Amino acid sequence: MKKYYITTPIYYPSANFHIGHCYTTIIADALARYKRLSGYDVFYQTGTDEHGLKIETKAKEVGLSPKEYVDKIIADAKDLWEKLDISYDYFIRTTDKEHIKSVQQIFKKLYEKGDIYKGEYKGLYCVPCESFWAPNQSSSGKCPDCGRDLTRVSEEAYFFKLSKYQKQLEEHIETHPDFIEPKSRKNEMINNFIKPGLEDLCVSRTSFKWGIPVDFDDKHVIYVWIDALSNYITSLGYPKETESFKKYWPADLQLVGKEIVRFHTIIWPALLMALDLPLPKRVYGHGWLTIDGGKISKSLGNYKDPREYIDAYGVDAVRYFVLREVPFGSDGNFSEEALILRTNNDLCNILGNLLSRTMQMAIKYFDGKITISDKNEKIDNELIITANNLKDSVDKKIEELKVNEALELIFDLFRKCNKYIDETTPWLLSKDEKENKRLETIIYNLLESIRKGSIMLNAFLPQTAKKIFKQLNLEEQSFQDIDKSENYNVGLEKPEILFKRIVK
Ligand code: MSP
Repeated sequence: MKKYYITTPIYYPSANFHIGHCYTTIIADALARYKRLSGYDVFYQTGTDEHGLKIETKAKEVGLSPKEYVDKIIADAKDLWEKLDISYDYFIRTTDKEHIKSVQQIFKKLYEKGDIYKGEYKGLYCVPCESFWAPNQSSSGKCPDCGRDLTRVSEEAYFFKLSKYQKQLEEHIETHPDFIEPKSRKNEMINNFIKPGLEDLCVSRTSFKWGIPVDFDDKHVIYVWIDALSNYITSLGYPKETESFKKYWPADLQLVGKEIVRFHTIIWPALLMALDLPLPKRVYGHGWLTIDGGKISKSLGNYKDPREYIDAYGVDAVRYFVLREVPFGSDGNFSEEALILRTNNDLCNILGNLLSRTMQMAIKYFDGKITISDKNEKIDNELIITANNLKDSVDKKIEELKVNEALELIFDLFRKCNKYIDETTPWLLSKDEKENKRLETIIYNLLESIRKGSIMLNAFLPQTAKKIFKQLNLEEQSFQDIDKSENYNVGLEKPEILFKRIVK
């Protein structure tokens, strides 16, 4: 069986998660589900990145130990993922005992190899971003990522020989065009970061305690990026040569927000090279969901708990918005108004309406029992061809990670079905006994198109697909069922409204 290992970043549990965290997680979920339906043995991993000064400080502010503080947020995050139907296979926490041990072993291995050495760190540090910057990276004394003030620091520290891997890294990126995507981010990495020259990286700190100790020099804790990035292999058991490590590594797709592409396409591959491990096949840096065109941030207080939207509009309305609204790779705005508009326009007007019209006609004219017909007219064949080609065209979009376009194709089929109803005018045919077979053919073609569309919808909106199959009185179907011809002569179930129109 072919395998597929897909990851999200591990999120900082410094505050409860917002719709931006849901963004990567929902997209990874849809891709994981799609690959499972395509017959892959999928390993979908997400998790939390729990160490570092920021968490230590936050916990102190509310009088908790760092572990107590993160435990609460992780419980909340897991609840959120459950409500969003996130089908992760593994949730890694960097406070997991096995992860801690593995990271210490990785650190030691690199030290013994000479790729980690002791030196003195002098530079600038951004506390909120937990990132170090060399003086030449910030002439203004402000963090190049978030614009906040940087702090000057100097202390004994361990360094990773990132510079040693510059050539090898450049070569890998050039010879593996899919390694960094989209292309624009690949060019940015090469031109802005690699070509100007890579400096060795500070990988330990002595100024805070909340981290994984270097086991052979325990006044140092391992600085967050080695700890965090290793999660993608420690979860599989590395450095032990476990079955899952052999099976799943290297990852097939690592999804990351654009602000951490740098860490995932420079530091991460260099670490893997130092460990003599293969690199992930593809790292994709996507854009951000914004609110009023800007950052979603706790300190700005500009966001609601995503569960409020789930409770008000349903989980699939939220999933649909995230998957459909923004071209994957670009930034896009999130607002409650836009969520309502999408739900009403696509989920209610196109899909809900189609299902309800078709079901009502089938029940009214044929008591819900519709049999196969083979006498199709030109207009029928056009619809049938669109439905039959849908899987191949969605497959292509998914391969290119154009998730929003994949959904657009599925809804295009539903839109065509509505048009087909308008053009074939079943309500007129129903008045003429002689047109009975023709009428049944039309309804049959609609049911088949809805069935095929719903099979394709499964990965994106699993609950909606389930509800549609139930109404069609069918067991849940998968990709291998798409080409068969279904019979609806057992009778359809009672129609139910899929999505209520939202009036605000
Ligand atoms: N802990 C690091 C990642 C370590 S991975 C080895 C981190 N955590 S984070 O909590 O800041 O999460 C960043 C990720 O959350 C982004 O890369 C992105 O995947 C997701 N998003 C957070 N806010 C987002 C938006 N507003 N829009 C889209 N994705 C966003 O960085």
